[in-house]
Amino acid sequence: MFFFRKKSENVGTNLPFLASIGTDIHSHLLPAVDDGSQDLDTSIEFIEALHALGIRNVITTPHCMMDRYPNSVETLSEPYQQVKNALAEKNIPVHFHHAAEYYMDEFFEELMKAPLMTLNGELVLVEISFMSAPPQLHQWLFELSAQGYRPVLAHPERYNYYHTQLEEYKVFKQRGCLLQVNLLSLTGYYGRHIQKAAEWLIENKLIDFIGTDLHHSKHLQAIKAIGKDKKLVKLLDTYPFKNNTIQLVPQV
Ligand SMILES: [Fe+2]
Repeated sequence: MFFFRKKSENVGTNLPFLASIGTDIHSHLLPAVDDGSQDLDTSIEFIEALHALGIRNVITTPHCMMDRYPNSVETLSEPYQQVKNALAEKNIPVHFHHAAEYYMDEFFEELMKAPLMTLNGELVLVEISFMSAPPQLHQWLFELSAQGYRPVLAHPERYNYYHTQLEEYKVFKQRGCLLQVNLLSLTGYYGRHIQKAAEWLIENKLIDFIGTDLHHSKHLQAIKAIGKDKKLVKLLDTYPFKNNTIQLVPQV
């Protein structure tokens, strides 16, 4: 008689797609720089947890939102080094980098004049207001492209105002803006409407990247629970996310 260990008993193996994408491109894991992890121990705990789930590369993306989280290369340098050092001390074999999640508002227009923090030297993660899209949005996206960057819109499914005009998502893609879905959007964590929009984007092959957007332990628990949803696991296993095509650039 053979005994099979139920996959659901082992969190590390029930999300194989995380090992195949390899790189998480969206999270808030630098301590006390935004609304994500608030201390070094929590940052390390979360990064270790992502590693246990199969993630090998973490490009964390603190908010750059001038009126709330005025982060920059300078403000992020020290917390980044603290995390790097702690990971090395604990022998956690994760490649840990940071970029940023830029909030596109009138302050961003100014920020664009200096070099931006990118995922790989080219890709810039951006987000917009949950209330309404800025009127200059496509102008700014165009300017980013003209400067040699490739914008990646974070969690397009979470902007409710696009749910009634789904064709707008295609406009982003036609204009060269890539789209990053949040893993938890597909579980319904942010609500049914957001889940439906995320599923529509996936069905229409409009999504390029997936990210955890991990801020706190509730997110982590919800991510760990995904393995129980066999239908979603199958979808995640088969969708051609491009995370594993990102070439990490050395970061000091
Ligand atoms: Fe985020």
